[in-house]
Amino acid sequence: MYNFFPHLGGYLDLAEKRRRLIHFHFVEMDIMEMLAGWSESMVYIPVRAGVGEHIWEQALHVDQMAWALRNLKANRRWLGSQSPSDEFIHLLEKIWQTADPLLRLVGVYRVLKPHLIAAYQAYIDGTDHLADQFSVRVLLACITDHQRHITWGNTMIAHLATQAPARHQEALQWQHTLESELVQVGGILSEGESTLHLPFAGWPETAAATASTGDDQGPPPSKGYTYRKGFTNQGSVELAWDSRFRYATTPDDLPHPPPRTPEALVVTLHGLFHGECQTVDRMGWILVDFPELPWELRKDIAQQAWEEARHIMIVAQLTEGLGGHLGQYPFPPYWGRLRRDHHHPVAHLVIGNIIGEAGASALTYDALEYSQGWGNDWLRRGLEHLGADEVVHIGFGRKWARHLIHTDREAYGAAGLAKAKTMVDIMDSARVAKGFPTSTPADWQQVEQVFARLGEENSEA
Ligand SMILES: [Fe+2]
Ligand SMILES: [Fe+2]
Repeated sequence: MYNFFPHLGGYLDLAEKRRRLIHFHFVEMDIMEMLAGWSESMVYIPVRAGVGEHIWEQALHVDQMAWALRNLKANRRWLGSQSPSDEFIHLLEKIWQTADPLLRLVGVYRVLKPHLIAAYQAYIDGTDHLADQFSVRVLLACITDHQRHITWGNTMIAHLATQAPARHQEALQWQHTLESELVQVGGILSEGESTLHLPFAGWPETAAATASTGDDQGPPPSKGYTYRKGFTNQGSVELAWDSRFRYATTPDDLPHPPPRTPEALVVTLHGLFHGECQTVDRMGWILVDFPELPWELRKDIAQQAWEEARHIMIVAQLTEGLGGHLGQYPFPPYWGRLRRDHHHPVAHLVIGNIIGEAGASALTYDALEYSQGWGNDWLRRGLEHLGADEVVHIGFGRKWARHLIHTDREAYGAAGLAKAKTMVDIMDSARVAKGFPTSTPADWQQVEQVFARLGEENSEA
């Protein structure tokens, strides 16, 4: 006779596991986008650097959650599920719309993330640890990250609130408000309108499959309430900074030390510091302004946000190590900010990733070359890492600009080129208006060459 009793079980059936994971996936993506959209107005440098890192870790959660969902697929072509309730999405939107960096941190790190940890733990407690081992593994890894993020968030909240003691009270009050609203709306697992999630890439012969984008890791299309994260601050060539930093108002405000000297390198690094900060923000633009782009592209962009956030810290160390200090010089106005007003994904990738980062890479390799005899190992290592990462970022730009152009030559190729030229023009008019030298003819030529080359290259190259 049989005396073996399989140890399988848990109290969640497959449909309930999928329902929960889809909600988790939705919220992990939403937090990634919130951080990406907030980056340029977070001001306090340690917050900005941490946000860049968390954008990437959120992207990894989204990716892993989608992997677990694929493992939970039923033997059907599409899965019916529910989106989080409209009320829950409204609460996310309310947090997104908060302008104050302190209160934003409270919303994500004191309210949403603790709520996610509780929901993930409840799933882990209720599921089958043998049959559903992949979900357990993913959720445990997410919990570990979220706990670390919460510790960081609380440190940053303490820093920001310490500057004005009344702010502690305000932060606690806001936390209380959001927590009670979270309870009222039923939390992350509350049900909204039915939604479709397609865990396989495309079966266009059915209406349900046609309705899907075929991108199996995007947020599930929902019949319920959704919101897009827009942006303000149009026409600006200056980002928000803390009081240590300022912008040059004329070209004469900028320093011109003798070239290829330690002083010249401090000036270069000081400018690069601005560039690293704004590149985290620029990755944020791409994530927030173009949510319809393929997930694999968005994931690379999230990775770059993290790498640029590390560059902020590397460049700060190199600057101070060479005897300079942050805020020592004014920054040149940030003409590139105007690109966001005329945004197009391929134009951003070509001007920002391919042309702009090639310029940053050239600066780094030039510095490596002329600082060779200075006998300075930490400088060398820092510059080598910066240069190596830029090559990866140029590669992201080429890979995805080429992919998009080959996907739709009209919408991404021709329209991208037209937008890129508009960007060059508006940046140049702003430069000329403030007395800085023009660069339109050279920039136009470069943009045209890059688009032509990408269009000719093999799409799989
Ligand atoms: Fe960088
Ligand atoms: Fe970069």
